[in-house]
Amino acid sequence: MLKTSDAAIPRVVVDDVHKDFKLRHTHSIKETFVAALKRKPLTTDFHALDGVSFEIGAGESVALLGFNGSGKSTMLKLISGVLTPDEGKVLTRGRVAGLIEVGAGFHPDLSGRENIYLNAAILGMTKKETEERFDEIVEFSEISQFIDTEVKHYSSGMFLRLAFSVAIHTEVDVLLIDEILSVGDEPFQKKCLARIRALHEQGKTLVVVSHDLDMVSSLCDRGILLRDGKVLFDGASGDAVAKMRS
Ligand SMILES: Nc1ncnc2c1ncn2[C@@H]1O[C@H](COP(=O)(O)OP(=O)(O)OP(=O)(O)O)[C@@H](O)[C@H]1O
Ligand SMILES: [Mg+2]
Repeated sequence: MLKTSDAAIPRVVVDDVHKDFKLRHTHSIKETFVAALKRKPLTTDFHALDGVSFEIGAGESVALLGFNGSGKSTMLKLISGVLTPDEGKVLTRGRVAGLIEVGAGFHPDLSGRENIYLNAAILGMTKKETEERFDEIVEFSEISQFIDTEVKHYSSGMFLRLAFSVAIHTEVDVLLIDEILSVGDEPFQKKCLARIRALHEQGKTLVVVSHDLDMVSSLCDRGILLRDGKVLFDGASGDAVAKMRS
């Protein structure tokens, strides 16, 4: 049988992906009715991603770069499976954990403790595995005082602390991080970055979105620059940042 090394098989394949969103042009039932009578279009399609292709190999660290609205978060949501493409394919291999929106994946009426179990289960951990790691998860998050408080009363930083802590204590193969580190205070951001670097050294695959260009170019080897839903550049992260600033 032909043997292929693990590193040779990509973790993420994005193949000619298109994602459209509808832009509404009417604000009320009356306007909708009038526009329909005049046979004016009620919506137009907006191409958030317009034929994007790339592959990410096992153990790569990739920054997704681009200005506001260029399609970065949409791309991460497609990789995490929260969204599906209209055309094209997104394939992933292994366990994918996404830290994409502050508070996403948490149930507001459950406590921090209950949400740890919920999140860990979503990420594929058994109850026993979660029990074994529970103390470490809480310790890393530094919010043990609030662990039995309903998370609807949490601050943005507290959500980040819990979500990040759960994600890094699971057996994740691909970690997707969208901007949310920026809601953490400086000491916690530093601690997260150190942990992300350690995960990368252990061979985990990273896809990071951030407007902190110096941080991402030092953290990631490769940069994919999106503009208006298309790949404008794909290469060394330093070159991608230079291209974005040019
Ligand atoms: N659910 C949605 N419905 C309609 N339009 C959407 C939706 N999600 C995203 N868009 C649009 O798609 C475009 C790309 O959005 P996206 O969030 O991917 O940008 P981004 O690169 O992450 O930007 P930022 O740097 O501001 O986070 C934007 O113009 C946005 O308005
Ligand atoms: Mg975004």
